[in-house]
Amino acid sequence: MKVLLIGGGGREHALAWKLMQSPMCDKLYAAPGNPGIAADGGECIDLPVEDIPGIVNFAKESAIDFVVIGPEAPLAAGMGDAVREVGIKCFGPTAKGARIESDKAYAKTLMQHVSLPTAEARIFTDFDAAKTYVLSRDHGVAVKASGLAAGKGVIVCPEPYQAVKPLEEIMRDKIFGEAGNTVVIEEMLTGQEATVLAMVDGRNIYAMEALQDHKPIGEGDTGANTGGMGAYSPVPIIDDETMTRIEKEILVPIVDAMRRDFGRYEGVLYTGLMFTPAGPKVIEFNCRFGDPECQPLMMRLKSDLLEAMLATAEHRLDEITMEWDPRPAVCVVMSSGGYPGPYEKGIEITGIEEADAMEDVKVFHAGTASKGGKIVTNGGRVLGVTAVGDTVAEAQEKAYGAVTKINWDGVYWRNDIADKAIKA
Ligand code: AMP
Ligand code: GLY
Repeated sequence: MKVLLIGGGGREHALAWKLMQSPMCDKLYAAPGNPGIAADGGECIDLPVEDIPGIVNFAKESAIDFVVIGPEAPLAAGMGDAVREVGIKCFGPTAKGARIESDKAYAKTLMQHVSLPTAEARIFTDFDAAKTYVLSRDHGVAVKASGLAAGKGVIVCPEPYQAVKPLEEIMRDKIFGEAGNTVVIEEMLTGQEATVLAMVDGRNIYAMEALQDHKPIGEGDTGANTGGMGAYSPVPIIDDETMTRIEKEILVPIVDAMRRDFGRYEGVLYTGLMFTPAGPKVIEFNCRFGDPECQPLMMRLKSDLLEAMLATAEHRLDEITMEWDPRPAVCVVMSSGGYPGPYEKGIEITGIEEADAMEDVKVFHAGTASKGGKIVTNGGRVLGVTAVGDTVAEAQEKAYGAVTKINWDGVYWRNDIADKAIKA
């Protein structure tokens, strides 16, 4: 079967690597893909993820059997609908389904309707009303632009008055454009965070192994938030009993609520959780795999990803099960100096092949480009160096062993990825 994967980040490299291992996958195309996907045997197509008509045309002309959509932006823009309209099977929700991520006010309202454990929140479209509200609060708040803001739309304010400036920037100055027309103001929660990714076919739910991301740029979870500087799996704070509770109290009610609201949600549902003193609460839902969470997850997946995705798209997820490597996996993100602020691109990277050749290690490309036969930096998050080991400590040691073989001018990484699991 011919598969077309949409996207070109670390998440998509991990998905491509796993999809190409399937005996059912004869050929994998990626739009736009990246040099890592190409090195593993995928064919990269020079079409940006925003070009829905171009991608649908390519899929028709190349007789693609199955389209897998990685990032949220094309999902929110209706690529899933457009692909299905021309009769091609697709993994990823429709635009209505993607609202669970692209419209935080909608997601919050849906959560409130089914009494999900989540932060208390109010929704505002008027700046003065929002300002009056935060100034009346005694406890910290999280201000969220309702629309998509490339992972930058959430500002956590331990003191309520600190929310006034971000509200002004989002609602008046429109730093996130239309995404800031509506804001969600939540009570600030505290606790460890974890990610649960579940395959959903509209009715059946399969929760995959839990993961933990590391959002802040600095060690010890300090500094600005990023897309994620590293991840590991499994997560000690989620035992079987907690996972069952998450499925029953969170996943089943939200999938049912979406079915009642618009029909089937199909694809992967990302649940960001915070383990508060009152139990696990939902921080956010996303309509796609996490990045970098996808990288260690794919390292641990032993069964056929394509089979699981097809079963999801054909609404027969109850027929399959997924097998996991019991060994932990750790992914360390190597980023451009300056990220998440401004950074330079086009800097030559050395040592990728040597690191990639190490046992139990895989180097996933996230923001790279090929230039004159060399691999150069082309984004904020550049590589996701991922390893498995018999223990978290061993996986961590292998990942960092591989990281130190790779170099470029200005490279940055956090040295404490997965420490929480080891010191727990
Ligand atoms: P999100 O983009 O929704 O994942 O939010 C980014 C980060 O902001 C999360 O990973 C949390 O660390 C933090 N965050 C979001 N909502 C809250 C909240 N209600 N209380 C405390 N922190 C939050
Ligand atoms: N790593 C966080 C996310 O993918 O949203």
